[in-house]
Amino acid sequence: MAHAAGLSVEQLIARGNEAAPATTAAALRELTARRIQREPMAYILGEREFWGLPFKVSPAVLVPRPDSETVIEAALSLLADRDRSWRILDLGLGSGCLLLTLLREFPAARGVGLEVSEAALAVARTNAAALGVGARAELLLGDWRQPGWREQIGGSFDLLVSNPPYIEAGAIAGLMPEVSRFEPKLALDGGADGLAAYRAIAAEAPRLVAPGGRLLLEVGEGQTPEIYRIFQSTGFTAEAPWKDLGGIDRVVSLKY
Ligand SMILES: C[S@@+](CC[C@H](N)C(=O)[O-])C[C@H]1O[C@@H](n2cnc3c(N)ncnc32)[C@H](O)[C@@H]1O
Repeated sequence: MAHAAGLSVEQLIARGNEAAPATTAAALRELTARRIQREPMAYILGEREFWGLPFKVSPAVLVPRPDSETVIEAALSLLADRDRSWRILDLGLGSGCLLLTLLREFPAARGVGLEVSEAALAVARTNAAALGVGARAELLLGDWRQPGWREQIGGSFDLLVSNPPYIEAGAIAGLMPEVSRFEPKLALDGGADGLAAYRAIAAEAPRLVAPGGRLLLEVGEGQTPEIYRIFQSTGFTAEAPWKDLGGIDRVVSLKY
């Protein structure tokens, strides 16, 4: 209603006794029709809050999830010195919610982000500028399935974060319509067993993470043991996983 009326929620409450203008009623009917078709609220409103920050979203990006805030929580705990010039890499930027939030939390840090979708990259760039961290963020178009993707990034990082696609391809159609019909397949499809992106990232991670550096990876429910195994085989040491608000192991932590 606030969106349709072009008012803040506070203004809407203050004017709650007034009749809605016909244009507002028409706009609300249109927005409601989209929601009835199960379009996510974030796409209808064009924005979603993550870690208390406003992120623009479009149907080209995954809607930022509260579960993914676990990555931020873990990073803040593990990289105790907020003022150090950490080097941070985010693989699979989407809206940019992980990297850009970290750049806000670590004011001297610099970040690189990789994203395969041009449309998603454009959203991340808009968010970087709006959040005032654009000058410290290098946001690149690239594909971790293609040979040479790591060379494009260069350098080594104190922290590599990623929330890659991790749904088993065959399970996508059975997800709630908000996800299966509206969110980008590129952001969901983790291949036959859901782990394809982790394998691609693991193959290059030793050349991306500095000695003593860390990897924080969001994972799907039940995937933790296999993902630890994949990364331990490339020289990383497993640390305790971080749980999401539902008590599910959501972020694996690995040290190089
Ligand atoms: C699950 S979404 C996560 C987005 C964002 N980091 C978040 O947490 O909301 C995964 C992202 O990885 C991107 N992606 C998928 N496959 C990729 C690939 N091969 N190379 C680079 N990015 C990829 C998708 O386009 C999508 O934006």
